Amino acid sequence: MNQITFALAKGRLAKKAMSILKEIGIVCTEMEGDTRKLLFTSDDGNYRFFLSKASDVPTYVDYGVADIGIVGKDTILEENRDVYEVLDLGFGVCQMAVAGEPSKKELLESGRVLRVATKYPYIAKKYFEKTNRPVEIIKLNGSVELGPIVGLSDIIVDIVESGKTLEENGLIVLEHIAPLSARCIVNTASLKVKHEAIRDLLNKIESKMGDLK
Ligand code: PRP
Repeated sequence: MNQITFALAKGRLAKKAMSILKEIGIVCTEMEGDTRKLLFTSDDGNYRFFLSKASDVPTYVDYGVADIGIVGKDTILEENRDVYEVLDLGFGVCQMAVAGEPSKKELLESGRVLRVATKYPYIAKKYFEKTNRPVEIIKLNGSVELGPIVGLSDIIVDIVESGKTLEENGLIVLEHIAPLSARCIVNTASLKVKHEAIRDLLNKIESKMGDLK
């Protein structure tokens, strides 16, 4: 059977993705309500869904066990997997930025080795390589804004959405790295083998996106 399998980042993103799919007639009743299940089939039997940790979505798609993934651009950049990014879903809009205390602006241009705290070591490494500045990257797993406040790092590389976390901690955006939002990624082989079904699906999603933002 030509079933299409989705890997979805658990949580808000998966909920939003399922509401978009419902709009185009793909209903998955068994995912609704309170459940600890991780693998689901749509009511019509044509689609399967995995709920995984966001950072694992590109892995499932790269290996082809999922045809399509729905995940944030931050995760796509950080995981750097061999997948096609085919659609910007336009929700979950935020940005990846370098942030720190306002006084750190000069330090960024000083040529000194910068200590950077981040949940995104790959993105940070690539960004500072590209902009030709030496860095020591310190991987943190959350509340990254603490880094510069307690003196662990000079600056951070992190997601900024409303800017509230930075503001309440006396930090500002020093440099913009990339705009972020939820994206659709597709396995390279699936795009060939299931081309028509996937194209048709993406067109339907795209046509509904205006109403869903
Ligand atoms: C994210 C991000 C920032 C914050 C930005 O953290 O890492 O800390 O949200 O949002 P804002 O600009 O709207 O304040 P998250 O809430 O996911 O928690 P974490 O830091 O523990 O990962």
